[in-house]
Amino acid sequence: MLAVSLSVIRPARATTKRLDQKVDSVLNLMTLDEKIGQLVLYTSNWDVTGPVMGTDNLKAIREGKCGNIFNAYTAKYTRELQEIAVKESRLGIPLLFGYDVIHGHKTIFPISLGEAASWDLAAIEKSARVSAKEAAAMGIQWTYAPMVDIARDPRWGRISEGAGEDPFLGCAIAKARVHGFQGDDLADPTTVLACVKHFAAYGAPIAGRDYNTVDMSERMLREVYLPPYKAAIDAGALSVMTSFNELDGVPATASHFLMTEVLRNEWKFKGFVVTDYTAINELVPHGVAANLKDAAMLAMNAGVDMDMQGGAYNDYLKELVKERKVSEEQIDTAVCRVLKLKFMLGLFDDPYRYCNEKREKETIYAKENLDAAYDVACKSMVLLKNNKEVLPLKAGQSIALIGPLADSRRDLLGSWKAAGDWDQISSVYSALKKANQGVRVTYSKGCELTGGDTSMFAEALVNAKKADVVVMVLGESCEWCGEAASRTSISVPDIQKKLLHEVSTLGKPVVLVLMNGRPLALVDEYEWSDAMLEAWFPGTMGAEAVADVLLGKYNPSGKLPVTFPRNIGQVPIYYSAKNTGRPYEPDGPEQKYRSRYIDSSNQPLFPFGFGLSYTSFAYKNMRLGKSTITGNDSLEVSVDVTNTGKYPGDEVVQLYIRDLVGSVTRPVKELKGFKKISLDKGETKKVSFWIRTNDLAFYRKDMSFGTEPGKFIVFVGGSSDAENSKEFSLTE
Ligand code: NOJ
Repeated sequence: MLAVSLSVIRPARATTKRLDQKVDSVLNLMTLDEKIGQLVLYTSNWDVTGPVMGTDNLKAIREGKCGNIFNAYTAKYTRELQEIAVKESRLGIPLLFGYDVIHGHKTIFPISLGEAASWDLAAIEKSARVSAKEAAAMGIQWTYAPMVDIARDPRWGRISEGAGEDPFLGCAIAKARVHGFQGDDLADPTTVLACVKHFAAYGAPIAGRDYNTVDMSERMLREVYLPPYKAAIDAGALSVMTSFNELDGVPATASHFLMTEVLRNEWKFKGFVVTDYTAINELVPHGVAANLKDAAMLAMNAGVDMDMQGGAYNDYLKELVKERKVSEEQIDTAVCRVLKLKFMLGLFDDPYRYCNEKREKETIYAKENLDAAYDVACKSMVLLKNNKEVLPLKAGQSIALIGPLADSRRDLLGSWKAAGDWDQISSVYSALKKANQGVRVTYSKGCELTGGDTSMFAEALVNAKKADVVVMVLGESCEWCGEAASRTSISVPDIQKKLLHEVSTLGKPVVLVLMNGRPLALVDEYEWSDAMLEAWFPGTMGAEAVADVLLGKYNPSGKLPVTFPRNIGQVPIYYSAKNTGRPYEPDGPEQKYRSRYIDSSNQPLFPFGFGLSYTSFAYKNMRLGKSTITGNDSLEVSVDVTNTGKYPGDEVVQLYIRDLVGSVTRPVKELKGFKKISLDKGETKKVSFWIRTNDLAFYRKDMSFGTEPGKFIVFVGGSSDAENSKEFSLTE
């Protein structure tokens, strides 16, 4: 029964002070049970994303013991649940609905790692904007994104969900995604609240095994892993999700250091912190809590506001307050944070503002959403090889399209496909046929994704023999990336490699299109093919994008956001490594006692930032505005980039810096700037970057953040192998 009229607690859009007053006015009406209820998040029984705890959610909502629901969507269903909260609970406080809208809601964009390969911040922001619009039209106000975990180990399946290995690129993308989801105003009913995850350092599990221990120096944590979370928070993200891993012996969900000292005290975060799925319960097997009650106490005392699905807060917070192990004041603070967001999202103004079936119908799969997904899919593709200009395909050619992913639709959406419908999209095969660009396409599956069955090889080989060009679509299943999908091998499965090898012996030009959610070791594939296109899992419009890139309607411009190793033994491998005391110099005299492998090159197959185009670019005339900077100076670095090939094209111009001598060792290169430019055939553009002294700051020996005078090298080019360089100095 609604005992308290909602009008008492529904503000108009309020200033912060008025908002606080409104929040307080609700808090004052609440019993301890109802307060705890606002800190409880349960999954609906739709689309469950982890082990489900036995609980009667509807009863909990009615009793005010569950203030938040995830994995429920559609305007109709969320309205039904919202009505229970608003009409049947004592205070009628609206529910907050969350969901994993990671790279699209209905219209699915490329997996996040693929989007990152676009290096196109406006396109990435647009992807998040469209995702927010669609999700918000289906009853959602809160997405569990962006995932900003830096990842340098391709064994980890969740490398597919982030922006790759680099903090600079990671920060820029984190910011774009937060802004895309949240817009300028959370009260706008087409935006959703972002949730930065997984705090912190979830992307560095030992041996790449999901949920495994993370152990790193505070320097590494602060320099590499923390910046993207901070960037997302600075961009306005108002919720944060804890990570499953431990860090320095303390699971993140029990870490006062992370949740309070860093997040609140250092970064001044004002939103609320939610756990990952049952992460409080997992404090018991982690071995820092003897039982669930202790676990609840540890989490609350660390600074965790909301319990996702674990039931620990529901079951034990009241008892902990009675025993004075947790104070009611702490609970009030957490509740206020949650209520504040509900006010900001306009839920108290109108709890049903996200449950409009007409809006839902108009928004889902709107043409502009599909166009945006197509655009990002094109931009995400990375051309890894293109010998003898095999690509683009030419009109009049006959194409043998071969491979287990060539006519797959389900895999195109990748992991976290949210509410996406794979059965309504095109496969590469159907898209190539539909494109109708004068090529003739004959399809053979050739083999399954895995296993040893070669019975379909013969037909595929006959098909290949008859064609002018063979296009093979190989790689991973969409289920091999994402959560709980770590691999010990990063190879294309043997059966697919065998098929590729046999096809390659026919002497026909072979184009390899790869779909995968992690860097793969592709040395053999590189040898056996003439062209290679990394398509990731490209989403709802991905097949059309692959077809148009192959046909030359779109000239690829993607650059790898993560290093592709030669073999798994090189992992973890990343461009911003340290030099070591015995750097390997391939042309130096004595090489035995150097930092190297005796059975492999040190170099990756494809470096971070790498990606080709159907055209070519020349970098010339690199120059610095001055040779010394100091104080608040900025240094201009410019270069002339010319399109020297046959097609108009886009290039991502990248700037890297090396600090030669410091009180602690510095990476051999660090990305400090990038610009994506378009150039017509023969066109030259001057590209300028401005380096500020602050860009040269780092955590010094005493862990203070700042600069040190000395010499630096700045590099500019089209990948992290950039060779154009100049030296400059920073003086005090
Ligand atoms: C567990 C995952 O780690 C997290 O990323 C996700 O948001 C939650 N499950 C909710 O589905």
